[in-house]
Amino acid sequence: MLQINANARRNDYDDSLRQILNIHAADESRAWLSAWDGLNAGPTPLWDLPDLASRLGVGSIRVKDEGHRSPLGSFKALGAPIALMRLIKRLFQGHDLDAAKLIDRHYTTLLRNLTVISATDGNHGRALAAAARSIGCRCVIVLHKHVNDERRLAIAALGAEIVQIEGNYDESVKEAARLAKKNAWHVVSDTSYDGYETIPRDVMQGYGTIAAEAIEQNDGRPYTHVFIQGGVGGLAAGVISYFAERDGEQRPRFIIVEPDQAECLYQSALRGHAAHATGSVDSVMAGLACGETSPLAWRFLSVLADAFMTVSDKTAIEAMRILAAGSTRDIPVVAGESGAAGLAGLIQATGDAKERVALALDEHSHVLLLNTEGATAPALYRQLTSLRAEDVLHAQLQWQGAQATTVILGSAASNAAVLSAAGG
Ligand SMILES: Cc1ncc(COP(=O)(O)O)c(C=O)c1O
Repeated sequence: MLQINANARRNDYDDSLRQILNIHAADESRAWLSAWDGLNAGPTPLWDLPDLASRLGVGSIRVKDEGHRSPLGSFKALGAPIALMRLIKRLFQGHDLDAAKLIDRHYTTLLRNLTVISATDGNHGRALAAAARSIGCRCVIVLHKHVNDERRLAIAALGAEIVQIEGNYDESVKEAARLAKKNAWHVVSDTSYDGYETIPRDVMQGYGTIAAEAIEQNDGRPYTHVFIQGGVGGLAAGVISYFAERDGEQRPRFIIVEPDQAECLYQSALRGHAAHATGSVDSVMAGLACGETSPLAWRFLSVLADAFMTVSDKTAIEAMRILAAGSTRDIPVVAGESGAAGLAGLIQATGDAKERVALALDEHSHVLLLNTEGATAPALYRQLTSLRAEDVLHAQLQWQGAQATTVILGSAASNAAVLSAAGG
């Protein structure tokens, strides 16, 4: 399903939006995180996939590969640590805490009574647990019944205490808020709700790094389209606000992609306000299986997103396989279920004559996709693709070796870390 957003604006980035998310704060977040040993050094790779572009009838496809962001395996490592650092700086204002020292356990005595809590469908909780460990405070993570064991164990291995509930993601968000109130803990959530916006804003701001790097790594030719997967909408708001502020009228078209069954942003577009999904919210794309739109993210998407679309689990799995296979000119890429969703959207849109026209996709289009996660659940990855993530990563390295004379836009220097995250 595709819904064009008649309210999308291409003029100057609004001041009221700039006060919430802006390039200045995004760049500051990026600088702070450069001191964190929880991230792999340098930008994540930006892969060029010319064979896939010609197969889908577009000019070019670039994939920003967030599987290489950190051993945690997803872009979420850019959000939770920043929100936690900014929260602690606010709580301990008089102490003039240094960001680089904070993320390196210099203030553990000061922070010994601090507990942070969040709900998660996997990746955000993993990033928060890792940040809390690096900072030296206690972390409690609330998991819903659909979070698989691999993801639960990965969070527990980072020292977080796990609370498991019977309900879905949206209920886990409510449980985290309830526990925080009862125990005077601090919620560090990636989604906003009534009266709770500062921390989700900081999380979203951290994601601006992806846009900043994708622009720097590009060869000067502006992207025409960015396909971005949506859960609660935070990733999309963080990334597209950066492009919109920087490029104004020249900005690319933004297309938001969600699972058919967890289409809260699509429903928001239909209704004109932050809305709930009408589907079962149970998708193989676990990171996108969110039933409620983040109202704060919606303020950005409602005026900046050009279209909202939904894709099936089947298309997402097909996209995972296509990325893993690579080809003579396309590097193999490890993309988890949610990571491949942007490509699923592009496959669907280019395969439908009407959608192709509605989105102005043609042989001149220069498309940016975000692979937001690697194999964050390695056994599930194997089940869905019939491939082991570590074998695809080895194929990626071999492909690079064979293409030594080709211009590579990124490097897989972080493969060792990704391999260990994938259990290889
Ligand atoms: C891998 C992955 N991609 C995309 C998203 C969507 O991010 P958001 O919920 O901020 O829209 C998530 C959220 O958890 C995720 O884990």
